[in-house]
Amino acid sequence: MFSPALFAAYRSDPWVAGPVHHFAELESTNTWCRRATDPETPHGALCLADHQSAGRGQYQRAWTSAPAENLTFSVVWRPATAERLALLKQVCALAVCDTLTRFDVPGSRIKWPNDVLVDKRKLAGILVECTFLGALPHRVVAGIGLNVNQVGFPEELSHSATSMARESGTTYVREAVLAHLVNALARRYAQWERQDPALRNDIQARLIGCGEWCQIRVDGVMRDEPCKVLGVDHEGHLVVLDDRLRPVTFRHEDVRIDRPAEPLP
Ligand code: BTN
Repeated sequence: MFSPALFAAYRSDPWVAGPVHHFAELESTNTWCRRATDPETPHGALCLADHQSAGRGQYQRAWTSAPAENLTFSVVWRPATAERLALLKQVCALAVCDTLTRFDVPGSRIKWPNDVLVDKRKLAGILVECTFLGALPHRVVAGIGLNVNQVGFPEELSHSATSMARESGTTYVREAVLAHLVNALARRYAQWERQDPALRNDIQARLIGCGEWCQIRVDGVMRDEPCKVLGVDHEGHLVVLDDRLRPVTFRHEDVRIDRPAEPLP
């Protein structure tokens, strides 16, 4: 079982504040954060469950995770602007990559928009949800499922999922990993707030296909012509060059970058 006391001991960085809500079992930490009251969920609040009975992924998919082996948690942010919210997904993905590097799990990359992969296998999933009061964001709930110590996966995931332990052969103290990850999230969020250009550079350095000619899929449909992926704009949207070298920005959610294509002649 996750120990909030041990987590508190690892949480030395004064940057990280906010209440910690720990549950042995919960439907979904994102759902809890969305429904919680304002005093329970100030900026920096954290909700963690050892087991989620109805963990949610992107596109209404389920997120399953072996109880007490991994990290399934959500943080609440209260941004003052409705601009650049799409970039927060990559803020989370990058913070996960920072953490993996810190714990000697090399080679983590971001698969657009926000999956974290190592060697083509998914190690973390991210679900960022935003509620609004009028035109302004009320709460951003950033939910992260990070596979930490799980080494056995169900048959259907055995070739597509991995974990920190599977990659490194090490068993991790989840409280230490979470302490580092919430600090990384706070640092990357601060870069987002001050619009630090280093943030996008670091995202692009991790983004699979960036700088390459790739096939892209929009709403599940593969485009005939390849595109060169240029990177992420300041709003968090994907920018590509089409086959006639015209820049195109995808504001749409469901864009997938597929395998690198042959370079244009
Ligand atoms: C995905 O890859 O589709 C996103 C998965 C996000 C899973 C996390 S686990 C913690 C938080 N609570 C949820 O119900 N979902 C997110």
